[in-house]
Amino acid sequence: MNPDGSLLSARDLRKSYGSTPALDGASFSVHPGEVVAVMGPSGSGKSTLLHCLAGIITPDSGTITYAGRELSAMSDAERSALRRGDFGFVFQFGQLVPELTCVENVALPLRLNGVRRKDAERTARGWLERLEVDGIGGQRPGEVSGGQGQRVAVARALAASPKVIFADEPTGALDSLNGERVMELLTEAARSSNVAVVLVTHEARVAAYSDRDVTVRDGRARDAEYIA
Ligand SMILES: Nc1ncnc2c1ncn2[C@@H]1O[C@H](COP(=O)(O)OP(=O)(O)O)[C@@H](O)[C@H]1O
Ligand SMILES: [Mg+2]
Repeated sequence: MNPDGSLLSARDLRKSYGSTPALDGASFSVHPGEVVAVMGPSGSGKSTLLHCLAGIITPDSGTITYAGRELSAMSDAERSALRRGDFGFVFQFGQLVPELTCVENVALPLRLNGVRRKDAERTARGWLERLEVDGIGGQRPGEVSGGQGQRVAVARALAASPKVIFADEPTGALDSLNGERVMELLTEAARSSNVAVVLVTHEARVAAYSDRDVTVRDGRARDAEYIA
């Protein structure tokens, strides 16, 4: 944990792509077990903020602190170990590996962490069951529906027992019923494991599952309660 009780926090992040400022002094924090929705219009910097927080891209300036350690002080190898070991990811289209079955996809983060195939696949099957898609474990992502694929993606994000889950528009490609079910399962699983969830969305009905909303406008993040 960080000294302020948060698990992950960012201060005054700036990031430009050429002359386009994507982040312009954004600050953010999330506590263990907390679901924070990052809201804001398209192009406001939500994905850039999420990618910085997850150590996928490096901001031009500002600090990101995870569990008392500054990301910028870590080596690339340490940052990728952190992404593999402590972080889970769910993206808009799931981004499952098409050549692998659904069970193998969920087992993948465990396999990358050195878990034996048999054990990894047993754990994966348990998660598919919790996410109510155990019937499709042997199928490949191209053979299942969008809603099923996204549940598999959520199972994969949770399988390696992450401390933080980063979800970027996780329901964006789903109809509202599937979207709500995915959010229920994601937040339920996160709460029962005390996982911090950083949820990027522009949909109010998705943000309704969060404990707190942060709005990003023109690259600056604010807690909703501070917005006039
Ligand atoms: N890889 C990139 N190269 C150039 N510009 C980018 C890149 N990623 C994002 N941007 C720009 O940065 C701004 C913020 O983008 P993004 O973080 O994706 O916003 P959001 O997720 O809120 O839609 C936009 O103006 C976008 O065009
Ligand atoms: Mg985005």
